[in-house]
Parts: sequence; C-alpha cells; structure tokens
Amino acid sequence: MSDCSVVVREATDADLPEVIRINMESLPEHYTLSFWRNILYTWGKAFLVAEACGEVVGYIMCRTLWRRSFFRRFLMGRVGHIISIAVREGYRGRGIGTRLLVEAMRRLHDYYGAKEVYLEVRVSNERAIKLYKKLGFRVVQRVVRYYADGEDAYIMARPLPLEGGDGL
Ligand SMILES: CC(C)(COP(=O)(O)OP(=O)(O)OC[C@H]1O[C@@H](n2cnc3c(N)ncnc32)[C@H](O)[C@@H]1OP(=O)(O)O)[C@@H](O)C(=O)NCCC(=O)NCCS
Repeated sequence: MSDCSVVVREATDADLPEVIRINMESLPEHYTLSFWRNILYTWGKAFLVAEACGEVVGYIMCRTLWRRSFFRRFLMGRVGHIISIAVREGYRGRGIGTRLLVEAMRRLHDYYGAKEVYLEVRVSNERAIKLYKKLGFRVVQRVVRYYADGEDAYIMARPLPLEGGDGL
C-alpha cells in the first residue's frame, strides 16, 4: 500500500462497481445489483467505503431489522445487521476493517436507532472472528449448513452503542 491515507465515507451509486468487484474477489456470497442498490438507498448512512489514493479498497454494507433481542429474552427491538464486509487483499491487516466496522456500528445506532448489531461468519473464518471478538461481538448461535456449500455459520452479536470501555 502506498502512503495515501485511508478515508472512510458513505458509499454512492458510483462506488458500486468497485464494491461489487471487491465482494466478488473476497467472498463466495454475492448479490444482485438491485440488492446492492436497494440497501444503499435504504440504509445509506451505514453503507460505507474505505478509499485510499482515490481508489475504493473496502466496504461494509448494513441494514436494520425489527427482531428479537439476542441478549434480553422476550424483548423486541431495532437491530443492525452487517450483511457484508471486505477489504481488498493487499490492504488487509492495516486497520481498515476495524475502521469500517466501528463507523458502521456508530451509524447503525445514531441514525437508525439500533440497540444491537449482529452478523453471520463462516466458522472457518478465523481472521474475521478474531476481528469481531476484538470489537466486542460474541457468538450467540451456530447455524448448521448456513452457507450454500454446507459450511456452518456463527451468528455473532453485541449491544450498541459503543462504550468508552470498548477501547475503540
Ligand atoms: C475480515 C476483513 C474484512 C478484515 O479487514 P482488515 O482490514 O484486514 O482488518 P484489520 O486490519 O482492521 O484487522 C483487524 C483484526 O483482524 C485480525 N487480523 C488481521 N490480520 C490478521 C491475520 N493476518 N491473521 C489473523 N488475524 C488477523 C486481528 O484481530 C486484527 O486486529 P489487531 O490488528 O488489533 O490484532 C478482511 O480480512 C477481509 O476482507 N477478508 C475477506 C472477506 C471476509 O472474510 N469478510 C468477512 C465475512 S464475515
């Protein structure tokens, strides 16, 4: 990576081709263009890209749902869902994924009123699991054969908002 500083900002329509390219390179889970657009138009405050030297090098795509709490039995509430996050290979391990997640979690709470946030992750994706644990997520469920290739998923969740004690 060059010396360019990394900027995290809201995604625009014009970013979608690069975002989709990073998704295709990084993950087996892909989406139709109308799905990407629908999420961008509906939850655009929490659809972020990381840009370095004018180039998009990472993204995070989120939405919110009204659902049962992961932590308080019988309680319903607005919950953020991280649908997809990826950083281009040559830019990984430099804190970009952390920045995208922290900013998206802040925005899911501040703009959309999310009281919790969750995501699915392959049980073999140790790197991502380590990152989520570092950011206060914990495994709340294992879903057998969640992915199309038969791999199980962990559902990981954490309460919002972020607190000073989170070390973020
Ligand atoms: C998961 C991903 C988004 C993380 O992005 P990133 O920019 O590399 O993340 P960061 O640099 O902020 O690293 C954050 C943490 O990840 C872990 N990590 C980073 N590089 C690692 C490595 N080589 N090995 C193991 N853990 C690693 C560490 O816990 C690190 O925190 P630390 O630096 O405080 O130790 C990125 O690896 C990626 O795009 N992977 C492919 C797509 C993917 O798996 N997405 C998640 C699907 S659920």
